[in-house]
Amino acid sequence: GAPLTSQGSPRCPLLLPCPGQAVPQSSGQYCMPEEGVPLTPKADLLTTEEILTLARLFVKEGVDKIRLTGGEPLIRPDVVDIVAQLRQLEGLRTIGITTNGINLARLLPQLQKAGLSAINISLDTLVPAKFEFIVRRKGFHKVMEGIHKAIELGYSPVKVNCVVMRGLNEDELLDFVALTEGLPLDVRFIEYMPFDGNKWNFKKMVSYKEMLDTLRQQWPELEKLPEEESSTAKAFKIPGFRGQVSFITSMSEHFCGTCNRLRITADGNLKVCLFGNSEVSLRDHLRAGASEEELLRVIGAAVGRKKRQHAGMFNISQMKNRPMILIELFLMRQ
Ligand code: GTP
Ligand code: 5AD
Repeated sequence: GAPLTSQGSPRCPLLLPCPGQAVPQSSGQYCMPEEGVPLTPKADLLTTEEILTLARLFVKEGVDKIRLTGGEPLIRPDVVDIVAQLRQLEGLRTIGITTNGINLARLLPQLQKAGLSAINISLDTLVPAKFEFIVRRKGFHKVMEGIHKAIELGYSPVKVNCVVMRGLNEDELLDFVALTEGLPLDVRFIEYMPFDGNKWNFKKMVSYKEMLDTLRQQWPELEKLPEEESSTAKAFKIPGFRGQVSFITSMSEHFCGTCNRLRITADGNLKVCLFGNSEVSLRDHLRAGASEEELLRVIGAAVGRKKRQHAGMFNISQMKNRPMILIELFLMRQ
């Protein structure tokens, strides 16, 4: 899809909400503040019906991909129902989910039947004890089981999101890449990003260039694949390996120019940039009985305020910025 900036038209991504949890299952060392996040009162959360009303509107306006993200979408009791109802929307090509993987093996057969088309799994380490430290709970083997289940059920590639942090997991890059030899995975190394309360600092961030150098020392034959339109990731492949390896370079090489995403938070705020704190409540307009035209005006105005580019790396780290755990669903046009 085309870029979604103040110069472009509203063409893309939105995220869907899940119920607030004081310490959601995906709580981790870096994706939410240590003290947890406040429990969102249930009445403030979008209902299943409101989610679908908004999704319908955005799909009518050209959104063709919706990703349910987190928090942890698989703890939402109506997640299978949401997927099934989204599937009915004509024009929606892809329904994706980004999950911590813990409940995936159990729920995937139902989700697949409901129409789930793409799976991204967050996994930052292949060492079980380290997993427990990062995620603050057990579950490593369940996540691996989820990954294998997704492959077995034919998802390809299954994307594995690995946020790389110096001193924590940067020594595991080669082990992650080795997984792609026999499995149809897209292992995506993500530069560590600052959000409120996650104690980001520049030294903890391992840049794309540094990761690429490490990989090239082991596999000089690493090949860059053609860029996919509006993708967050730069993809590479080692000849002969089944899977691929990608880098999400939000910090060192932003991709704002091709960003075609919009997000909706669990409590119904439209967020036009991951690194921005300007939000507008679609829920309040819905509940006040706004017509479709009125909602589209509000959305259009928010998109019109979207900046050409988010602030630079150092400004981002000083901004107030909703942790990713509090963003629930996003919409995009492929
Ligand atoms: P695909 O649709 O499979 O490409 O997934 P995705 O990368 O859009 O979504 P996912 O939920 O897997 O997010 C993985 C990482 O992508 C996040 O941790 C972010 O680093 C990055 N990302 C996703 N959306 C944005 C965005 O709008 N802006 C920036 N800067 N980074 C983003
Ligand atoms: N920096 C980079 N990626 C992050 N994610 C969560 N917090 C951060 C952060 N601070 C990732 C998760 C998940 C995806 C939705 O975002 O690991 O895979």
